[in-house]
Amino acid sequence: MSKFFIPLMDDNIDRGDIDCLIDFLNQEKIPKLTNGSKVIEFENEWGEWLGTKYNIMVNSGSAANELTMLALKYIYGEVEVIVPPLTWISDISSIILNGLKPVFCDINLKNFSFNLNRLKEVVTPNTKAIFLTHVLGINGLTDEILEFCKEREILLIEDVCESHGATFKGKKVGSYGFASNFSFYFAHHMTTIEGGIVSTNDEYFYQVCRALRSHGMMREMTDEKLKEKIIDDNPDLNKDFIFIHPAHNFRSTELNAVIGLSQIKKLDDNNKIRIDNFQYFMSKLDSNKYITDINLEGQSNYAFIVVLKEPSFVQRDRVEKTLKEEKIEFRRGLSGGGNQLRQPFFKKHYNINHSEFPNMEHVHDFGWYIGNYPTLKKEKINKLIEILNNI
Ligand SMILES: Cc1ncc(COP(=O)(O)O)c(C=O)c1O
Repeated sequence: MSKFFIPLMDDNIDRGDIDCLIDFLNQEKIPKLTNGSKVIEFENEWGEWLGTKYNIMVNSGSAANELTMLALKYIYGEVEVIVPPLTWISDISSIILNGLKPVFCDINLKNFSFNLNRLKEVVTPNTKAIFLTHVLGINGLTDEILEFCKEREILLIEDVCESHGATFKGKKVGSYGFASNFSFYFAHHMTTIEGGIVSTNDEYFYQVCRALRSHGMMREMTDEKLKEKIIDDNPDLNKDFIFIHPAHNFRSTELNAVIGLSQIKKLDDNNKIRIDNFQYFMSKLDSNKYITDINLEGQSNYAFIVVLKEPSFVQRDRVEKTLKEEKIEFRRGLSGGGNQLRQPFFKKHYNINHSEFPNMEHVHDFGWYIGNYPTLKKEKINKLIEILNNI
């Protein structure tokens, strides 16, 4: 039994998932367990669920981020990408490691996505993409952001690793962008233990991602014309081993895909419980103490978001002490532990004026998330609300 009264995540893999895996492994002829037909089956089911034409399963959400930025570099060269400081490390490291230029834009406190006014200030003629994070199940898209990308011919890349099933205007987020990245890590809405996927409707980007997922190997592409051109350009090479770009091995195994095929069947039902839990939680949270005017339309959340209204370190310490005493697991800083620009990996190389990121700074110091999972009982949610409101 978990030592936490409310853990960050519970029961995300069930007996049914394990039975599927056992059945798969129990076949008389042991199937090929590396990336194969089950991965393709999962990619197709995922595409139907999300509404995207091309889907490339990888071995983590961070691999999805890295693959997307690798492909961007391969196709467009050393361009600028606007990214928020409230995100996972791999949203930033994937830009830096590929020699692209990260440009940072503060968040807003209504949906924790980009602050539109700042976005308009930091954009430059070299901006090729915005790498938007949908934070903890909250839709980060608005008409203005879509308009901003369209007008300036900037690609929208969506990080949906924390927001499976969230929607904007009734359509799933992750189906709006040029590319979108999902994680299937254990703590998320659905899991393949470790895993991720890149989704897109752009065929060329898909072909490039297929190659870059497997060491940059051209033979992984499925467009025969494209392959012929690359073969013609490299007459001295064996066509089985043509590497188009320095890349990695991000392939999934079949085992992860088998779990994914079992998990995706439960995703919508589980999300419905989480959505109801979160809506209820926010409706009861004390709006004098906490930020409660978050835009909840289209949310699909695996964590309760708690952000102090007033910046008080004394109150912050009280909240953390109480949560620890009550055995409620929490993480400070929302996504990725808060402001990535304060992390050693970043500040060693870059100088940032933190006063340009006031909303980020507030969430970094005074925001938390707490687990919201399908088996969480209403009595526990009521107790949690009572505890938080009485601090
Ligand atoms: C917003 C976001 N992006 C990317 C990732 C990376 O996913 P993974 O842990 O599967 O590498 C995470 C991780 O949890 C995340 O929260």
